[in-house]
Amino acid sequence: MHTEYFIVDRENPDKEILGQAAELLKQGKLVAFPTETVYGLGADGLNEKAVADIYQAKGRPSDNPLILHIAHKEEINQLVAHIPANAKILIDTYWPGPLTIVFRRKAVVPDIVTGGLDTVAVRLPDSIVARELIALAGTPIAAPSANTSGRPSPTSAQAVLADLEGKIDAVVDAGGCQIGVESTVVDCTTPVPTLLRPGGVTLEMLIATLGEVEIDPILSGSFELSPRSPGMKYTHYAPDAPMVLFEGAYPQVVELLLQEVTTALAAGKRVGALVSAETAARLPAGVVSSVYGMRQQVDKIAANLYMALRSYDNNTVDVIYAEGISEDGLGLAVMNRLRKASGYTIVKG
Ligand code: TXA
Ligand code: MG
Repeated sequence: MHTEYFIVDRENPDKEILGQAAELLKQGKLVAFPTETVYGLGADGLNEKAVADIYQAKGRPSDNPLILHIAHKEEINQLVAHIPANAKILIDTYWPGPLTIVFRRKAVVPDIVTGGLDTVAVRLPDSIVARELIALAGTPIAAPSANTSGRPSPTSAQAVLADLEGKIDAVVDAGGCQIGVESTVVDCTTPVPTLLRPGGVTLEMLIATLGEVEIDPILSGSFELSPRSPGMKYTHYAPDAPMVLFEGAYPQVVELLLQEVTTALAAGKRVGALVSAETAARLPAGVVSSVYGMRQQVDKIAANLYMALRSYDNNTVDVIYAEGISEDGLGLAVMNRLRKASGYTIVKG
């Protein structure tokens, strides 16, 4: 399959070009597009065949449900059975933006979108390109991150093509994604809303808005409990080499990482280090470093994270050592993704 390539301006996208991409969506085809979080792989969310093709292109397990993306708040009413009071508050405060809300679904939502669950996840993205594309398509757009299942999410059109060129009908390129990690997922079908995936809307923001938020046990490390968000149980964001994550108090955590790097180099390994700029300056020669940002600039770390992980594609190193950061704010989302990328191979300092 030939993958068509469209390029548009992020703030002021050409309507005619987006119209061509929207036409493909209407025909049941797969179009990758940018959002403020990561690139999504879009299809008409009410077309079962089109949604089935998303799973096929990504190699995604069919019990991992998809998010439906809408262009205007009112479009929620056609999809969900009931909007709880807490969800109303979240919608008014954070939409459009990097927040996905889980509702009880209406029957119009196909089983293939929800993995058979009686709930549906909905998001109104902030990205102008995403919203205009969805509006032109005139249907809710099902869109997981536009990566091969298990790989880091794409934050550029180039990263989309690296995984999916020839497997999807088109990609819309509007440059890099500002946030860089996927949306926060909050389940509002529980009496107290439950955080299922940390993201751009932080836990601190949710607590400030709602007063009380439960945290899914899998996020606090109780992996034996069955995950409520099916996506949480799969290995994710994994780079091409095994990764070890160093967690703990700073600067001890960095000393520990530097020791391991030295030991691995001495053993003849090709060593990668996914680290802060401060730590990169202290690495010995011969290490393939990928810098995710300055330790205090968590927004930049999040924005660079997936590109940094993808820099180890094509088997360039034998092992990657990653430097953990504080879990404050967006740091919770960054650490959640790093833990999953490491397959929970974690050294605590
Ligand atoms: O930022 C994002 O959310 C991006 C962009 C493209 O919007 N999309 C994205 O989709 O990250 P995906 O499919 O990679 O992740 C969706 C997550 C998965 O963890 C999935 O299990 C969860 O949302 N999810 C979807 N529907 C759900 C439901 N009904 N109940 C609980 N979790 C659900
Ligand atoms: Mg994903």
